[in-house]
Amino acid sequence: MNFYFKFFLLWQSASTLASRQGCKLPLIRIKRPSGIAQEDQSPDGSTTIQVLDRNDYTYIVNVSVGAQSFPLTLDTGSSDLWVISNECKSADCSNVARYSQSFSTNLSITQTPFRTDYISGSVSGLVAAETVSLGPYQLISQVFGLANRTEGISFSDEGNSGILGLAFPSEMSMPGMAVLQSIFTALPDPYFTITLGSKLNVNSSSSFTLGQIDDLYANDLSDFFTIPVSKAGANDYTYWKISLFYITINSTRISLSPSSVQGVQHSQIAVLDTGTTLALGPTRDVETFWLSLGSAARNDPITGMWQVRCEKAIMVGFALGHEDSYREFVLDPADVSWEQGASNNGWCLGGIQANDEVDSGDWLLGDVFLRNVYSLYHAANSSSGPWIGLLSITNNESALAAFRQSRGPDLDSSTPPAVQIQSTAVSPEVRYKLLYGTSTLCGFIGGVVLTSLFRARHGLWYALRKQKQK
Ligand SMILES: *[C@@H]1O[C@H](CO)[C@@H](O)[C@H](O)[C@H]1NC(C)=O
Ligand SMILES: *[C@@H]1O[C@H](CO)[C@@H](O)[C@H](O)[C@H]1NC(C)=O
Ligand SMILES: *[C@@H]1O[C@H](CO)[C@@H](O)[C@H](O)[C@H]1NC(C)=O
Ligand SMILES: *[C@@H]1O[C@H](CO)[C@@H](O)[C@H](O)[C@H]1NC(C)=O
Ligand SMILES: *[C@@H]1O[C@H](CO)[C@@H](O)[C@H](O)[C@H]1NC(C)=O
Ligand SMILES: *[C@@H]1O[C@H](CO)[C@@H](O)[C@H](O)[C@H]1NC(C)=O
Ligand SMILES: *[C@@H]1O[C@H](CO)[C@@H](O)[C@H](O)[C@H]1NC(C)=O
Repeated sequence: MNFYFKFFLLWQSASTLASRQGCKLPLIRIKRPSGIAQEDQSPDGSTTIQVLDRNDYTYIVNVSVGAQSFPLTLDTGSSDLWVISNECKSADCSNVARYSQSFSTNLSITQTPFRTDYISGSVSGLVAAETVSLGPYQLISQVFGLANRTEGISFSDEGNSGILGLAFPSEMSMPGMAVLQSIFTALPDPYFTITLGSKLNVNSSSSFTLGQIDDLYANDLSDFFTIPVSKAGANDYTYWKISLFYITINSTRISLSPSSVQGVQHSQIAVLDTGTTLALGPTRDVETFWLSLGSAARNDPITGMWQVRCEKAIMVGFALGHEDSYREFVLDPADVSWEQGASNNGWCLGGIQANDEVDSGDWLLGDVFLRNVYSLYHAANSSSGPWIGLLSITNNESALAAFRQSRGPDLDSSTPPAVQIQSTAVSPEVRYKLLYGTSTLCGFIGGVVLTSLFRARHGLWYALRKQKQK
């Protein structure tokens, strides 16, 4: 029997959900620098996150594979499910829960290799299938990657054992049915929702629901502002991509440069990605954004990362939607003036950073954006494509008041008003070539940026410490 045939059999016994009710899964958040997860589960099954600081950078959900439970990164920016196997001996794999075949129940392991490349590392191993449980659901014969080798991923620092990717099947790096398909195929109401808890909003908590709405945030599908998912730059749905029209700073519009995604006009493309810590956009636009704040922002020449005065309250809005109807979603100022460096010198890491490595869209809107919305990810049906529902959960006035209370008064009254920036004529074709021509990596954007950001951040702290020592 050849591998493909074996795999075909595996695929045929395709994933089905054993349970058909809506469900809500607890979601825990990991914080830097301690890396210790906090959770506080309320009696009704919802999860409230106790937040001790603002250093949260990734969100974790428990997933059982066979009889073992693993903390996995909840990642709307990739499509694979994979866990580290106990065959993995690299340093990256130490100190995390690893899949052991001796605890397997319904495992079928193929000889089909899988491999996913990151900017700074990779993960590889064999394609397998096993009963996967998400809260009360069982995905029978769910295909997943059993990673026997990782490089440069440093999960041992993060304490999670892999990734639960919830982007579209076309971006899978292994054959078979994606988790998204398994879930959507079987749910009577095929969608999932996510909220990410944050510190400054005492009212917020994290949750991840399948086929039902978290009634802490909404009652009905009609409460959401709906946005069609875009195929931009591809023939099929790939990521949870939507159109971004402009950004605002304190209600003043900053127009954006033309999209680098082929065929896209009148907007840029943003990917909603829970697996990315910050919001990442084209260098040009991010530069424009920070420069409009005058001396309150600076670009660290060593790390290339933008920093901003910690007490600077900046109300940033992202206008998302479709051409006829878009809406501005505002960020908590603490997600923009994000995290204080180790040197405690009054400069914070900006929540918005430049990155041109993203090849699926112009922006990755990661956790700093997603903490401010209740988001819904809906399957396609016979008459409509997939869509995203967004509901703002950040009130600009109360977020500003909370920010002032924690950061103190803004002593710099000389900040120039945000300026209107004209787009310059870099043709989309040229940008497209620059971006895609040099990029050999595709897929797995969440992981890519997650990893590169960790490194960059360590670099930033290191640089700040070194400066102080001089
Ligand atoms: C995840 O699983 C671990 C180990 O079983 C458990 O201690 C923890 O409470 C779980 N967390 C959530 C959010 O379910
Ligand atoms: C193994 O699969 C069967 C159904 O195919 C399921 O009932 C059982 O719960 C699975 N075992 C585990 C530990 O997931
Ligand atoms: C690890 O995975 C590779 C494919 O990526 C495979 O060739 C190798 O046999 C696997 N090793 C073990 C010990 O399973
Ligand atoms: C939390 O909720 C209460 C009651 O709805 C509201 O008054 C308060 O402003 C909220 N706090 C924040 C930080 O949004
Ligand atoms: C934005 O508005 C707030 C509140 O009015 C103000 O404190 C802050 O300085 C403004 N920020 C900028 C960048 O203009
Ligand atoms: C398909 O989805 C759209 C949008 O959610 C909905 O309005 C429509 O009724 C659905 N059609 C069918 C046939 O289910
Ligand atoms: C908050 O939003 C309202 C409505 O969009 C606007 O009128 C007000 O100026 C905003 N306040 C701040 C502090 O940004």
